[in-house]
Amino acid sequence: MDTANLDTPLSKELFGDDFAWGVSTAALQIEGSCDADGKGPSIWDTFSAKKGKILNGHSPSTACDFYTRYKDDVDLVKALNITNFRFSIAWSRILPTGTGEVNQAGIDYYNDLINYCLQQGVEPWVTIYHWDLPHALEEKGGWTNREIVNWFSNFVEICAQNFGDRVKYWMVMNEPAVFTGAGYFLGIHAPGRMGLRNFLPAIHHVVLSIVAGARILRELVADAQIGNTFSCSYIEPYADKPRHFKAAKRADALINRLYIEPLLGLGYPTDEVTALKGIYKYVQPGDEANMSFDFDFIGIQNYTREIVKYSFFTPYIGASLVKAEDRGVELTDMKWEVYPPSIYHMIKKFNAYPQIKKLIITENGAAFPDVVFDGQVDDQKRINYLQTHLQQVLKAKQDGYNVQGYFVWTLTDNFEWAEGYHPRFGLVYVNFETQQRIVKASGHWLANLLR
Ligand code: NOJ
Repeated sequence: MDTANLDTPLSKELFGDDFAWGVSTAALQIEGSCDADGKGPSIWDTFSAKKGKILNGHSPSTACDFYTRYKDDVDLVKALNITNFRFSIAWSRILPTGTGEVNQAGIDYYNDLINYCLQQGVEPWVTIYHWDLPHALEEKGGWTNREIVNWFSNFVEICAQNFGDRVKYWMVMNEPAVFTGAGYFLGIHAPGRMGLRNFLPAIHHVVLSIVAGARILRELVADAQIGNTFSCSYIEPYADKPRHFKAAKRADALINRLYIEPLLGLGYPTDEVTALKGIYKYVQPGDEANMSFDFDFIGIQNYTREIVKYSFFTPYIGASLVKAEDRGVELTDMKWEVYPPSIYHMIKKFNAYPQIKKLIITENGAAFPDVVFDGQVDDQKRINYLQTHLQQVLKAKQDGYNVQGYFVWTLTDNFEWAEGYHPRFGLVYVNFETQQRIVKASGHWLANLLR
């Protein structure tokens, strides 16, 4: 097949009629109303209340007030000609303490949101878990407690029973490597746990929970399209030296292979990263049969690439990232390198697993320091970012890789985890004092592409 010319002007038609165009969000990052209508606290509510955890002391308690403004925001999705809307369910709205009594107001809320999307001709794509664990479960050990497989299964069952008659597209969990790495190894995300003794059991229990959740959806939701989303970055060695190559392979195992491989039945990549071998302490007889699932699609989420260097002093992995800031490259507000070919390489890499049926880019986007001038936000850098990444996606598609959708991260500027409200990723600008929305130039650009 001909490879696409990266200069070809983009058009929606080039991606084909079946290509899913969407925008992605997550409950904690947009909803606010953190204790409304019976909602219990999540680990992000309690973590952000501690001093020094979130940049500028920001809190997700109000966020974009999506909880009360969801109709206006779904109207915006529609106005931008986007036909698929990805959002997540806040576990502690449905089950305030994670288990036990169901909070009917939480169910009603997501029913209203789903119904409104459908009325507007916008297809809902639901992520069941996007990092906001009920705080009450963290007190019992959170993801380090094997009991969580049952707690999570119960939550998935409730979602399937209440929303499965209308929701067709499901993602069990979002970016497991990020929430376990940042939350259970590095301690920079909620719940702020650190070290292998937290990280390793969390990994294994997350894998078992993803599979248990996916099986429940398969059983309870007729015709469900079931997936899971994975963070990934193209990794290149710092220099053409064997020690950097080996370091890059180890980093690749940790960043790109840690979850997808066991979930596809290939086991944990312990040959590459020997420190992971400690995980077998948490693997019980019979677990192997419950660690993989035949997903209908795999969501890949890519933002940048990483350059990796051998590092004697970095424990467990012997590798470190060469900061983009020190490489003189174009940066986003997250200090991530703008490197469009990364998304092509990731599509190619995931496409090479024969077990994967189809790929959807469930997140791609960029934060830039947007400013309002004359009531408008002229974010040319974001337009350029989206355009160059979409050109790579198109090239991958034309090269025969099975990529069937692209979701921008994200609709509105929102709460970017430990970075608070500083990085603005939205197609729509939010004034967090007044909650006023302004469609950025990138939003108009996308609306025009999708017209
Ligand atoms: C990945 C996460 O899924 C999302 O929550 C986050 O805001 C974006 N990437 C940007 O960092």
